[in-house]
Amino acid sequence: MNRLVKVLHGDEHSRAVPVVVVNGPPGVGKTALVVQAAQRAVSDGYFADGRLFVNLLGPGRGAAAEPFGVLGYLLRALGAPAECTPADLDQRAATFRSALHGRELLLVLDNAADTQQILPLLPGSPGCTVVVTSRSRLPGLISLAGAVTLALPELSRREAALLIRSVIGDVRADADADADADADTAAVASPANAVVISRWRWSWLPSTS
Ligand SMILES: Nc1ncnc2c1ncn2[C@@H]1O[C@H](COP(=O)(O)OP(=O)(O)O)[C@@H](O)[C@H]1O
Ligand SMILES: [Mg+2]
Repeated sequence: MNRLVKVLHGDEHSRAVPVVVVNGPPGVGKTALVVQAAQRAVSDGYFADGRLFVNLLGPGRGAAAEPFGVLGYLLRALGAPAECTPADLDQRAATFRSALHGRELLLVLDNAADTQQILPLLPGSPGCTVVVTSRSRLPGLISLAGAVTLALPELSRREAALLIRSVIGDVRADADADADADADTAAVASPANAVVISRWRWSWLPSTS
């Protein structure tokens, strides 16, 4: 979190447009981390022109959103009228870069499939910062856009057990000696799983109060 906030504050880069890739397996907390870090950066006075958040998952299962459509969405979000949205990808990308000129904005591109999907969406203005989340490390983005990578590893079983405790509470976890055993045996490796399992336990564990 601190590392990402530092990057958002512009402490770690010398490039014109900072690009950060937060990568890790599904459910590990990439989106949650980026949303929190973005809120912190904005409350610290960065990104005066706001944030743009786009989910790059396409409509079908496992599909990737096309940059052409994403640029249309971004231009509308920036207030461009439909008649000013070009029908050609390169022109759309250029119009998007022009629209961002001089703005201080954080662009969050969540769930990127690959580097090709990201390249047309990159702003050209030094006031903008881009945070990409992806299951992949997007090595192409490191070489082509000088991206900084922040890897979120899977939680260890011990970390997952601690997270479950923090969600269901120490008293409840201690009251049921099976709680830790369950955490160990359930192959809980992500906050998503931990939260789902914790909720499930809430529904049948006897109340201790
Ligand atoms: N540090 C954390 N503590 C508690 N819950 C978390 C934490 N990080 C993520 N979560 C929860 O875990 C789930 C998965 O997180 P998410 O950010 O959606 O993962 P990803 O984007 O990597 O797939 C969400 O329900 C989120 O609220
Ligand atoms: Mg996510």
